[in-house]
Amino acid sequence: MEKSFIEWFRESSPYIHRFRGKTFVIAFDGRLILEGRLHSFVQDIALLNSLGIHTVIVYGAKLQIKKKMEEMGLGAFNKHPIIDEKLIEIIKEVVGAVRIDIEAALSMGVANSPMEKAKVKVSSGNFIVAKPIGVIDGVDYRFMGSVRSIDRDAVYKHIELGEVVLLSPIGYSITGEVFSIPYTDIALHASTLLKSNKLIFMVDSMGLLDDKNELIRELALDEAEQYLAEYAHNMTEEMRGILGLCIDACRGGVRRAHIINQTIEGALLKELFTRDGIGTMIASDTYAYIRSAKHSDIGGILRLIRPMEEKGVLIKRYREELENNISKFYVFEKDNVIVACGMLIPYEEDRTAEVGCLVVDPIDQNRGTGQRFLSYIEKQAKQRGFKRIFALSTQAIHWFQQQGYLLSTYDELPLKKKKAYNIKRGSKVLVKNL
Ligand SMILES: CC(C)(COP(=O)(O)OP(=O)(O)OC[C@H]1O[C@@H](n2cnc3c(N)ncnc32)[C@H](O)[C@@H]1OP(=O)(O)O)[C@@H](O)C(=O)NCCC(=O)NCCS
Repeated sequence: MEKSFIEWFRESSPYIHRFRGKTFVIAFDGRLILEGRLHSFVQDIALLNSLGIHTVIVYGAKLQIKKKMEEMGLGAFNKHPIIDEKLIEIIKEVVGAVRIDIEAALSMGVANSPMEKAKVKVSSGNFIVAKPIGVIDGVDYRFMGSVRSIDRDAVYKHIELGEVVLLSPIGYSITGEVFSIPYTDIALHASTLLKSNKLIFMVDSMGLLDDKNELIRELALDEAEQYLAEYAHNMTEEMRGILGLCIDACRGGVRRAHIINQTIEGALLKELFTRDGIGTMIASDTYAYIRSAKHSDIGGILRLIRPMEEKGVLIKRYREELENNISKFYVFEKDNVIVACGMLIPYEEDRTAEVGCLVVDPIDQNRGTGQRFLSYIEKQAKQRGFKRIFALSTQAIHWFQQQGYLLSTYDELPLKKKKAYNIKRGSKVLVKNL
Protein backbone atom coordinates (compact mmCIF):
# COMPACT_ATOMS: atom_id res chain seq x y z
CA MET A 1 0.00 0.00 0.00
CA GLU A 2 1.41 3.42 -1.00
CA LYS A 3 1.73 5.60 2.07
CA SER A 4 0.40 9.13 2.18
CA PHE A 5 2.89 11.94 2.57
CA ILE A 6 1.76 12.58 6.15
CA GLU A 7 2.11 8.92 7.15
CA TRP A 8 5.53 8.77 5.54
CA PHE A 9 6.72 11.99 7.14
CA ARG A 10 5.52 10.92 10.59
CA GLU A 11 7.16 7.53 10.23
CA SER A 12 10.43 9.10 9.18
CA SER A 13 10.70 11.72 11.92
CA PRO A 14 12.20 9.48 14.65
CA TYR A 15 14.92 8.43 12.19
CA ILE A 16 15.70 12.02 11.23
CA HIS A 17 16.28 12.80 14.86
CA ARG A 18 18.26 9.64 15.58
CA PHE A 19 20.60 9.82 12.59
CA ARG A 20 21.87 13.36 13.19
CA GLY A 21 25.62 13.28 13.83
CA LYS A 22 25.92 9.59 12.91
CA THR A 23 28.31 8.28 10.26
CA PHE A 24 27.05 6.27 7.29
CA VAL A 25 29.35 4.60 4.77
CA ILE A 26 27.55 4.17 1.44
CA ALA A 27 29.14 1.96 -1.21
CA PHE A 28 28.19 1.27 -4.82
CA ASP A 29 29.85 0.04 -7.96
CA GLY A 30 30.09 1.89 -11.25
CA ARG A 31 26.77 0.60 -12.58
CA LEU A 32 24.80 3.25 -10.70
CA ILE A 33 26.59 5.89 -12.77
CA LEU A 34 26.56 3.99 -16.06
CA GLU A 35 22.82 3.50 -15.77
CA GLY A 36 22.18 7.22 -15.23
CA ARG A 37 21.19 7.19 -11.57
CA LEU A 38 23.95 9.43 -10.25
CA HIS A 39 21.86 12.60 -10.27
CA SER A 40 19.03 11.22 -8.13
CA PHE A 41 21.52 9.46 -5.82
CA VAL A 42 23.31 12.76 -5.30
CA GLN A 43 20.06 14.48 -4.35
CA ASP A 44 19.53 11.85 -1.66
CA ILE A 45 23.09 12.35 -0.41
CA ALA A 46 22.50 16.10 -0.27
CA LEU A 47 19.40 15.47 1.83
CA LEU A 48 21.30 13.21 4.26
CA ASN A 49 24.01 15.85 4.49
CA SER A 50 21.48 18.58 5.26
CA LEU A 51 20.07 16.39 8.06
CA GLY A 52 23.48 16.36 9.72
CA ILE A 53 24.36 12.79 8.76
CA HIS A 54 28.08 12.27 8.27
CA THR A 55 28.38 10.63 4.89
CA VAL A 56 31.27 8.69 3.43
CA ILE A 57 30.81 7.52 -0.16
CA VAL A 58 32.85 4.65 -1.58
CA TYR A 59 32.57 3.97 -5.28
CA GLY A 60 33.73 1.22 -7.59
CA ALA A 61 34.59 1.62 -11.25
CA LYS A 62 35.10 -1.92 -12.47
CA LEU A 63 32.49 -1.64 -15.23
CA GLN A 64 33.97 1.63 -16.48
CA ILE A 65 37.45 0.04 -16.52
CA LYS A 66 36.07 -2.95 -18.41
CA LYS A 67 34.44 -0.65 -20.94
CA LYS A 68 37.63 1.33 -21.42
CA MET A 69 39.64 -1.84 -21.97
CA GLU A 70 37.16 -3.06 -24.54
CA GLU A 71 37.34 0.31 -26.32
CA MET A 72 41.11 0.01 -26.35
CA GLY A 73 40.90 -3.55 -27.70
CA LEU A 74 42.65 -4.91 -24.63
CA GLY A 75 40.32 -7.85 -24.14
CA ALA A 76 38.39 -8.85 -21.07
CA PHE A 77 39.03 -7.65 -17.53
CA ASN A 78 39.42 -10.83 -15.50
CA LYS A 79 37.87 -11.41 -12.13
CA HIS A 80 41.28 -11.35 -10.46
CA PRO A 81 43.45 -9.51 -12.93
CA ILE A 82 47.16 -9.09 -12.68
CA ILE A 83 47.46 -5.35 -12.70
CA ASP A 84 50.57 -4.42 -14.63
CA GLU A 85 51.99 -0.94 -15.39
CA LYS A 86 49.70 -0.49 -18.39
CA LEU A 87 46.52 -1.52 -16.60
CA ILE A 88 47.18 0.60 -13.51
CA GLU A 89 47.51 3.63 -15.79
CA ILE A 90 44.09 2.87 -17.28
CA ILE A 91 42.64 2.35 -13.80
CA LYS A 92 44.07 5.67 -12.59
CA GLU A 93 42.55 7.45 -15.55
CA VAL A 94 39.11 5.81 -15.29
CA VAL A 95 38.85 6.00 -11.49
CA GLY A 96 39.89 9.66 -11.63
CA ALA A 97 37.26 10.39 -14.27
CA VAL A 98 34.53 8.70 -12.23
CA ARG A 99 35.58 10.66 -9.14
CA ILE A 100 35.33 13.89 -11.09
CA ASP A 101 31.84 12.90 -12.34
CA ILE A 102 30.69 12.25 -8.76
CA GLU A 103 32.21 15.49 -7.47
CA ALA A 104 30.67 17.42 -10.32
CA ALA A 105 27.26 15.87 -9.65
CA LEU A 106 27.55 16.73 -5.95
CA SER A 107 28.54 20.28 -6.86
CA MET A 108 25.81 21.01 -9.36
CA GLY A 109 23.39 18.11 -9.20
CA VAL A 110 21.30 19.69 -6.52
CA ALA A 111 20.41 22.69 -8.68
CA ASN A 112 16.82 22.53 -10.00
CA SER A 113 15.98 19.98 -7.35
CA PRO A 114 14.28 20.10 -3.96
CA MET A 115 17.79 20.36 -2.48
CA GLU A 116 18.75 23.39 -4.59
CA LYS A 117 20.02 25.55 -1.73
CA ALA A 118 21.81 22.74 0.06
CA LYS A 119 25.52 23.15 -0.51
CA VAL A 120 27.45 19.91 -0.45
CA LYS A 121 31.19 20.11 0.05
CA VAL A 122 33.11 17.05 -1.05
CA SER A 123 36.51 15.89 0.13
CA SER A 124 38.54 13.30 -1.62
CA GLY A 125 42.23 12.71 -1.22
CA ASN A 126 44.97 10.43 -0.03
CA PHE A 127 43.00 8.96 2.85
CA ILE A 128 43.84 5.35 2.03
CA VAL A 129 47.21 3.73 2.57
CA ALA A 130 47.53 0.63 0.41
CA LYS A 131 49.65 -2.48 0.45
CA PRO A 132 50.12 -4.93 -2.41
CA ILE A 133 48.19 -8.18 -2.14
CA GLY A 134 51.50 -9.62 -3.29
CA VAL A 135 52.17 -13.10 -4.61
CA ILE A 136 49.41 -15.69 -4.22
CA ASP A 137 49.94 -19.30 -5.35
CA GLY A 138 53.01 -18.17 -7.26
CA VAL A 139 51.15 -15.35 -9.06
CA ASP A 140 52.30 -11.78 -8.49
CA TYR A 141 49.28 -9.48 -8.70
CA ARG A 142 51.55 -6.42 -8.99
CA PHE A 143 49.44 -3.27 -8.51
CA MET A 144 46.42 -5.05 -7.04
CA GLY A 145 46.28 -3.87 -3.46
CA SER A 146 44.35 -4.01 -0.23
CA VAL A 147 43.80 -1.50 2.55
CA ARG A 148 46.71 -1.07 4.93
CA SER A 149 45.18 1.80 6.86
CA ILE A 150 42.84 4.73 6.53
CA ASP A 151 43.70 8.19 7.79
CA ARG A 152 40.88 8.21 10.28
CA ASP A 153 41.70 11.60 11.78
CA ALA A 154 41.69 13.27 8.38
CA VAL A 155 38.37 11.67 7.45
CA TYR A 156 36.83 12.69 10.80
CA LYS A 157 38.05 16.24 10.37
CA HIS A 158 36.24 16.53 7.05
CA ILE A 159 33.01 14.85 8.09
CA GLU A 160 32.83 16.96 11.21
CA LEU A 161 32.97 20.03 9.01
CA GLY A 162 29.85 18.70 7.31
CA GLU A 163 31.68 17.59 4.16
CA VAL A 164 30.89 14.43 2.24
CA VAL A 165 34.01 12.27 2.07
CA LEU A 166 34.53 10.45 -1.21
CA LEU A 167 36.78 7.39 -1.20
CA SER A 168 38.12 6.07 -4.52
CA PRO A 169 38.97 2.41 -5.15
CA ILE A 170 42.63 3.34 -5.08
CA GLY A 171 45.27 3.66 -2.40
CA TYR A 172 48.80 4.94 -2.12
CA SER A 173 51.63 2.98 -0.55
CA ILE A 174 54.16 4.54 1.76
CA THR A 175 56.66 4.16 -1.10
CA GLY A 176 54.45 6.33 -3.30
CA GLU A 177 53.03 3.62 -5.55
CA VAL A 178 49.40 3.51 -6.60
CA PHE A 179 47.35 0.36 -6.02
CA SER A 180 43.94 -0.65 -7.24
CA ILE A 181 41.72 -1.81 -4.33
CA PRO A 182 38.22 -3.33 -4.55
CA TYR A 183 35.69 -0.72 -3.41
CA THR A 184 34.09 -3.35 -1.16
CA ASP A 185 37.37 -3.74 0.74
CA ILE A 186 37.58 0.03 1.24
CA ALA A 187 33.94 0.19 2.38
CA LEU A 188 34.53 -2.50 4.99
CA HIS A 189 37.70 -0.89 6.36
CA ALA A 190 36.22 2.60 6.34
CA SER A 191 33.07 1.52 8.17
CA THR A 192 34.89 -0.43 10.87
CA LEU A 193 37.68 2.11 11.36
CA LEU A 194 35.25 4.99 11.59
CA LYS A 195 32.94 2.87 13.77
CA SER A 196 30.19 3.97 11.46
CA ASN A 197 26.59 3.55 12.44
CA LYS A 198 25.75 2.04 9.08
CA LEU A 199 27.39 0.42 6.12
CA ILE A 200 25.13 0.47 3.08
CA PHE A 201 25.80 -1.51 -0.07
CA MET A 202 23.80 -0.41 -3.09
CA VAL A 203 23.51 -3.42 -5.39
CA ASP A 204 21.54 -4.34 -8.50
CA SER A 205 19.14 -6.81 -6.98
CA MET A 206 16.79 -6.98 -4.04
CA GLY A 207 18.45 -7.88 -0.75
CA LEU A 208 18.46 -11.43 0.58
CA LEU A 209 15.59 -13.75 -0.29
CA ASP A 210 14.00 -16.54 1.71
CA ASP A 211 12.79 -19.98 0.58
CA LYS A 212 9.67 -18.44 -0.96
CA ASN A 213 11.78 -15.91 -2.85
CA GLU A 214 10.52 -13.17 -0.59
CA LEU A 215 12.70 -10.36 0.66
CA ILE A 216 14.19 -10.81 4.12
CA ARG A 217 13.97 -7.41 5.72
CA GLU A 218 16.11 -7.96 8.76
CA LEU A 219 18.52 -10.49 10.18
CA ALA A 220 20.35 -10.54 13.47
CA LEU A 221 24.08 -11.10 13.07
CA ASP A 222 23.94 -14.79 13.96
CA GLU A 223 20.97 -15.30 11.60
CA ALA A 224 22.98 -13.68 8.80
CA GLU A 225 25.85 -16.08 9.45
CA GLN A 226 23.45 -19.00 9.39
CA TYR A 227 21.92 -17.71 6.14
CA LEU A 228 25.34 -17.48 4.51
CA ALA A 229 26.15 -21.03 5.56
CA GLU A 230 22.83 -22.41 4.30
CA TYR A 231 22.22 -20.40 1.14
CA ALA A 232 25.74 -19.70 -0.14
CA HIS A 233 25.28 -22.08 -3.07
CA ASN A 234 22.11 -20.25 -4.22
CA MET A 235 23.67 -16.81 -4.13
CA THR A 236 25.61 -14.96 -6.77
CA GLU A 237 29.28 -14.56 -6.03
CA GLU A 238 28.77 -10.82 -5.65
CA MET A 239 25.99 -11.21 -3.08
CA ARG A 240 27.94 -13.83 -1.17
CA GLY A 241 30.87 -11.46 -0.97
CA ILE A 242 28.73 -8.53 0.09
CA LEU A 243 26.90 -10.51 2.76
CA GLY A 244 30.26 -11.71 4.09
CA LEU A 245 31.47 -8.10 4.27
CA CYS A 246 28.27 -7.01 6.04
CA ILE A 247 28.84 -9.72 8.64
CA ASP A 248 32.51 -8.70 9.05
CA ALA A 249 31.49 -5.06 9.39
CA CYS A 250 28.92 -5.85 12.09
CA ARG A 251 31.48 -7.99 13.90
CA GLY A 252 33.91 -5.10 13.62
CA GLY A 253 31.61 -2.69 15.43
CA VAL A 254 29.29 -1.34 12.73
CA ARG A 255 25.77 -1.34 14.17
CA ARG A 256 23.87 -2.12 11.01
CA ALA A 257 24.69 -3.15 7.48
CA HIS A 258 22.19 -2.78 4.66
CA ILE A 259 21.96 -4.34 1.22
CA ILE A 260 19.63 -2.32 -0.98
CA ASN A 261 18.57 -2.26 -4.58
CA GLN A 262 20.05 0.82 -6.21
CA THR A 263 17.73 0.51 -9.21
CA ILE A 264 14.75 1.60 -7.09
CA GLU A 265 14.17 5.35 -7.18
CA GLY A 266 14.93 6.85 -3.76
CA ALA A 267 16.18 3.47 -2.47
CA LEU A 268 18.47 5.08 0.07
CA LEU A 269 15.75 7.25 1.60
CA LYS A 270 13.21 4.43 1.61
CA GLU A 271 15.66 2.16 3.39
CA LEU A 272 16.75 4.71 5.95
CA PHE A 273 13.54 6.52 6.79
CA THR A 274 10.86 3.85 6.77
CA ARG A 275 10.53 1.25 9.46
CA ASP A 276 10.82 -1.76 7.21
CA GLY A 277 12.98 -0.29 4.50
CA ILE A 278 13.22 -1.81 1.05
CA GLY A 279 16.27 -4.03 1.41
CA THR A 280 17.86 -6.37 3.92
CA MET A 281 19.32 -5.08 7.13
CA ILE A 282 21.81 -7.00 9.25
CA ALA A 283 21.86 -5.78 12.81
CA SER A 284 24.64 -6.37 15.29
CA ASP A 285 22.40 -5.08 18.06
CA THR A 286 18.99 -6.57 18.61
CA TYR A 287 16.78 -4.70 16.27
CA ALA A 288 13.41 -6.09 17.22
CA TYR A 289 12.51 -7.61 20.53
CA ILE A 290 9.62 -8.45 22.78
CA ARG A 291 9.60 -7.45 26.43
CA SER A 292 7.36 -6.65 29.38
CA ALA A 293 5.82 -3.21 29.17
CA LYS A 294 6.83 -0.26 31.33
CA HIS A 295 4.83 2.81 32.34
CA SER A 296 6.70 4.83 29.73
CA ASP A 297 5.19 2.54 27.04
CA ILE A 298 1.62 3.65 27.74
CA GLY A 299 1.73 6.34 25.03
CA GLY A 300 2.87 3.76 22.46
CA ILE A 301 0.23 1.25 23.57
CA LEU A 302 -2.53 3.85 23.36
CA ARG A 303 -1.41 4.76 19.84
CA LEU A 304 -2.01 1.13 18.83
CA ILE A 305 -5.23 0.39 20.68
CA ARG A 306 -7.21 3.63 20.33
CA PRO A 307 -8.02 3.16 16.60
CA MET A 308 -9.09 -0.45 17.36
CA GLU A 309 -11.36 0.73 20.17
CA GLU A 310 -12.90 3.31 17.88
CA LYS A 311 -13.63 0.58 15.32
CA GLY A 312 -15.16 -1.58 18.04
CA VAL A 313 -12.54 -4.32 17.61
CA LEU A 314 -11.39 -3.87 21.21
CA ILE A 315 -13.30 -2.74 24.25
CA LYS A 316 -12.42 0.69 25.56
CA ARG A 317 -9.76 0.84 28.26
CA TYR A 318 -9.08 4.04 30.14
CA ARG A 319 -5.54 5.26 30.64
CA GLU A 320 -5.83 4.67 34.37
CA GLU A 321 -6.82 1.05 33.74
CA LEU A 322 -3.76 0.61 31.55
CA GLU A 323 -1.53 2.16 34.20
CA ASN A 324 -2.89 -0.18 36.87
CA ASN A 325 -2.43 -3.21 34.62
CA ILE A 326 0.82 -2.34 32.90
CA SER A 327 2.59 -5.36 34.44
CA LYS A 328 0.28 -7.62 32.42
CA PHE A 329 1.31 -6.05 29.10
CA TYR A 330 4.00 -7.13 26.67
CA VAL A 331 5.24 -5.01 23.82
CA PHE A 332 7.05 -5.77 20.59
CA GLU A 333 9.58 -3.04 19.95
CA LYS A 334 11.31 -2.31 16.67
CA ASP A 335 13.82 0.47 16.45
CA ASN A 336 12.44 2.02 19.66
CA VAL A 337 8.91 2.06 18.27
CA ILE A 338 6.20 -0.16 19.76
CA VAL A 339 4.70 -2.11 16.86
CA ALA A 340 2.55 -4.57 18.82
CA CYS A 341 1.09 -4.91 22.28
CA GLY A 342 -0.82 -7.59 24.11
CA MET A 343 -1.88 -8.61 27.60
CA LEU A 344 -1.44 -11.84 29.49
CA ILE A 345 -4.20 -11.96 32.08
CA PRO A 346 -3.90 -14.72 34.68
CA TYR A 347 -6.75 -16.77 36.17
CA GLU A 348 -4.60 -18.64 38.65
CA GLU A 349 -7.38 -20.75 40.18
CA ASP A 350 -8.24 -22.19 36.73
CA ARG A 351 -4.56 -22.47 35.65
CA THR A 352 -5.74 -20.55 32.62
CA ALA A 353 -4.50 -17.33 31.04
CA GLU A 354 -6.14 -14.91 28.64
CA VAL A 355 -4.41 -13.14 25.81
CA GLY A 356 -6.08 -9.79 25.36
CA CYS A 357 -5.68 -6.38 23.84
CA LEU A 358 -3.54 -7.88 21.09
CA VAL A 359 -2.82 -5.35 18.36
CA VAL A 360 -0.19 -5.17 15.64
CA ASP A 361 0.45 -1.78 14.08
CA PRO A 362 -1.31 -1.79 10.67
CA ILE A 363 2.02 -0.93 8.95
CA ASP A 364 3.49 -4.08 10.42
CA GLN A 365 0.62 -6.49 9.81
CA ASN A 366 0.88 -9.58 7.62
CA ARG A 367 4.60 -9.99 8.22
CA GLY A 368 4.47 -12.60 10.92
CA THR A 369 4.71 -10.06 13.75
CA GLY A 370 1.39 -11.16 15.29
CA GLN A 371 2.35 -14.82 15.13
CA ARG A 372 5.79 -14.20 16.68
CA PHE A 373 4.32 -12.03 19.39
CA LEU A 374 1.48 -14.42 20.25
CA SER A 375 3.81 -17.40 20.47
CA TYR A 376 6.05 -15.38 22.84
CA ILE A 377 3.05 -14.61 25.07
CA GLU A 378 2.03 -18.29 24.99
CA LYS A 379 5.56 -19.29 26.00
CA GLN A 380 5.43 -16.89 28.95
CA ALA A 381 2.07 -18.36 29.98
CA LYS A 382 3.45 -21.89 29.79
CA GLN A 383 6.54 -20.97 31.80
CA ARG A 384 4.27 -19.56 34.48
CA GLY A 385 2.51 -22.91 34.73
CA PHE A 386 -0.76 -22.17 32.90
CA LYS A 387 -2.30 -25.14 31.12
CA ARG A 388 -4.61 -23.28 28.77
CA ILE A 389 -4.78 -19.92 27.09
CA PHE A 390 -7.85 -18.29 25.59
CA ALA A 391 -8.75 -15.20 23.62
CA LEU A 392 -12.05 -13.42 23.03
CA SER A 393 -12.33 -12.10 19.53
CA THR A 394 -14.89 -10.61 17.20
CA GLN A 395 -12.74 -10.00 14.13
CA ALA A 396 -9.65 -12.14 14.31
CA ILE A 397 -11.34 -15.51 14.83
CA HIS A 398 -9.77 -17.18 11.82
CA TRP A 399 -6.40 -15.75 12.69
CA PHE A 400 -6.50 -17.32 16.14
CA GLN A 401 -7.64 -20.61 14.58
CA GLN A 402 -4.62 -20.41 12.27
CA GLN A 403 -2.48 -20.13 15.39
CA GLY A 404 -3.90 -23.39 16.74
CA TYR A 405 -6.82 -22.06 18.81
CA LEU A 406 -10.11 -23.95 18.80
CA LEU A 407 -13.53 -22.40 18.88
CA SER A 408 -15.01 -22.96 22.31
CA THR A 409 -17.92 -21.66 24.36
CA TYR A 410 -18.71 -19.28 27.17
CA ASP A 411 -19.03 -22.27 29.50
CA GLU A 412 -15.33 -22.97 29.17
CA LEU A 413 -14.30 -19.55 30.49
CA PRO A 414 -12.88 -19.13 34.01
CA LEU A 415 -15.58 -18.09 36.46
CA LYS A 416 -14.11 -14.63 36.99
CA LYS A 417 -14.12 -14.03 33.24
CA LYS A 418 -17.70 -15.26 32.88
CA LYS A 419 -18.79 -12.52 35.27
CA ALA A 420 -17.07 -9.86 33.16
CA TYR A 421 -18.20 -11.30 29.79
CA ASN A 422 -20.23 -8.84 27.74
CA ILE A 423 -22.91 -10.93 26.02
CA LYS A 424 -23.89 -8.04 23.73
CA ARG A 425 -20.43 -8.05 22.07
CA GLY A 426 -20.91 -11.66 21.10
CA SER A 427 -17.16 -12.33 21.15
CA LYS A 428 -16.12 -15.82 20.20
CA VAL A 429 -14.13 -17.86 22.69
CA LEU A 430 -10.93 -19.38 21.30
CA VAL A 431 -8.89 -21.78 23.39
CA LYS A 432 -5.51 -23.47 23.07
CA ASN A 433 -3.94 -26.04 25.39
CA LEU A 434 -0.39 -25.14 26.27
C1 LIG B 1 -4.97 -10.09 14.24
C2 LIG B 1 -3.60 -9.47 14.23
C3 LIG B 1 -3.05 -9.40 15.65
C4 LIG B 1 -2.68 -10.32 13.34
O1 LIG B 1 -1.37 -9.80 13.32
P1 LIG B 1 -0.42 -9.89 12.01
O2 LIG B 1 0.94 -9.47 12.43
O3 LIG B 1 -1.05 -9.14 10.90
O4 LIG B 1 -0.50 -11.44 11.69
P2 LIG B 1 0.58 -12.41 11.01
O5 LIG B 1 1.46 -11.61 10.13
O6 LIG B 1 1.22 -13.23 12.06
O7 LIG B 1 -0.38 -13.35 10.18
C5 LIG B 1 -0.79 -12.95 8.90
C6 LIG B 1 -1.83 -13.92 8.38
O8 LIG B 1 -3.02 -13.81 9.17
C7 LIG B 1 -4.10 -13.37 8.35
N1 LIG B 1 -4.88 -12.41 9.14
C8 LIG B 1 -4.48 -11.23 9.66
N2 LIG B 1 -5.49 -10.65 10.35
C9 LIG B 1 -6.53 -11.50 10.26
C10 LIG B 1 -7.86 -11.48 10.76
N3 LIG B 1 -8.31 -10.45 11.48
N4 LIG B 1 -8.67 -12.54 10.51
C11 LIG B 1 -8.22 -13.59 9.77
N5 LIG B 1 -6.97 -13.67 9.26
C12 LIG B 1 -6.15 -12.64 9.51
C13 LIG B 1 -3.44 -12.70 7.16
O9 LIG B 1 -4.29 -12.70 6.04
C14 LIG B 1 -2.22 -13.56 6.96
O10 LIG B 1 -2.60 -14.76 6.34
P3 LIG B 1 -1.60 -15.55 5.33
O11 LIG B 1 -0.38 -15.89 6.16
O12 LIG B 1 -2.40 -16.73 4.93
O13 LIG B 1 -1.31 -14.58 4.26
C15 LIG B 1 -3.62 -8.05 13.59
O14 LIG B 1 -4.22 -8.15 12.33
C16 LIG B 1 -4.34 -7.01 14.40
O15 LIG B 1 -3.74 -6.31 15.20
N6 LIG B 1 -5.68 -6.86 14.18
C17 LIG B 1 -6.47 -5.86 14.84
C18 LIG B 1 -6.69 -6.14 16.31
C19 LIG B 1 -7.32 -7.52 16.59
O16 LIG B 1 -8.23 -7.95 15.90
N7 LIG B 1 -6.81 -8.16 17.65
C20 LIG B 1 -7.27 -9.46 18.08
C21 LIG B 1 -8.27 -9.34 19.16
S1 LIG B 1 -7.60 -9.62 20.75
